[in-house]
Amino acid sequence: MKIIKLDNVEQEFIKEYSMKPFVIPTETVYGLAGRIDNDDVLKSIFKLKGRPSDNPLIIHISSFKMLNSLMEGELHKKYSLLINHFWPGPLSIIVKAKKNISKLIYGNTPRLIAVRMPDSPSLLNLINIIGVPLAAPSANKSGRPSPTNINHVIDDFGTELDVYIDGGPTKIGIESTVINIIDDKIVILRPGGITKEQLEEFLNENVEVKNNIIADEKIMCPGIKYKHYSPRIPVYLFKGKQRYENMEKFFKKVNNKKIGFIGTEDEKNNLSVFKFYNLGNSKKEIAKNLFNNLINAEKECDLICISEIDLDNEGLALMDRITKASSYII
Ligand code: TXA
Ligand code: MG
Repeated sequence: MKIIKLDNVEQEFIKEYSMKPFVIPTETVYGLAGRIDNDDVLKSIFKLKGRPSDNPLIIHISSFKMLNSLMEGELHKKYSLLINHFWPGPLSIIVKAKKNISKLIYGNTPRLIAVRMPDSPSLLNLINIIGVPLAAPSANKSGRPSPTNINHVIDDFGTELDVYIDGGPTKIGIESTVINIIDDKIVILRPGGITKEQLEEFLNENVEVKNNIIADEKIMCPGIKYKHYSPRIPVYLFKGKQRYENMEKFFKKVNNKKIGFIGTEDEKNNLSVFKFYNLGNSKKEIAKNLFNNLINAEKECDLICISEIDLDNEGLALMDRITKASSYII
């Protein structure tokens, strides 16, 4: 097992390592990457993660030319506007794949692939050197919180992987926003690093969120139907106006347990618990700290408590992750 700093990756890397899955730092979360032109590598990604084969992978590219090499037909004008503005960055667009793209990537979808250009010059350089786009799901075992530093990934995979590329703690901390275009309208399938408000403001139109099973029971974003983001200890999410009173009551009931409270700076002094995990103040800080705090708390506590966050801006993506991570909602 080898840990290489992102900025020290050399040409040799391609020959030596890219024929197996390896860990990459992106600006959102760490990814478990593999060349899209090698089915054995792609198969290993699913196996290593314990990922259901019908949950498709996001493809990471380093140029617009690579996007053209992947897609069939013309790029929708709205996509073109969006990617010119938001790429490189945490926005994944769903497009129709060329026939030669491996089915392992798009699963049971009608040959639809999610593509993004990560916001990291060194990573873009690496993809460029390899010369082939990289498919990369988040580098966690399926169902676990997403990794925001290299130690989180090592904790999940250890010697199962040969190469870890370390880029330090990730800048954004939650995954990319996945969007599609349906009837000429942008639809968010998974809220993430680029907010609904940012998309609406830029396009000057409403953007819908379908981050759920839609009316006809069809799963729009296959990943959402599985258990997600869950630490090894129970997570209690407190919602509504009475949430702090309810928490106090709950704390009394479980006072023999080590309670980890993951909260914002403002919530720090309100409650007495075994350990407080600071999310910071702004939504951006919360995004950056959420997964790290879930992972730290599971090592030190018996249970985790967290309070709801309003849905503005990054709040939508945060509540999506927090709700899915929760075992109980009170
Ligand atoms: O920020 C990110 O997106 C990170 C970093 C590593 O780039 N990657 C990531 O990948 O979060 P993953 O596999 O953990 O989540 C990908 C999500 C899943 O919910 C999956 O169902 C959805 O994207 N997805 C991928 N391809 C899709 C497609 N063709 N149609 C609908 N949803 C798709
Ligand atoms: Mg994931």
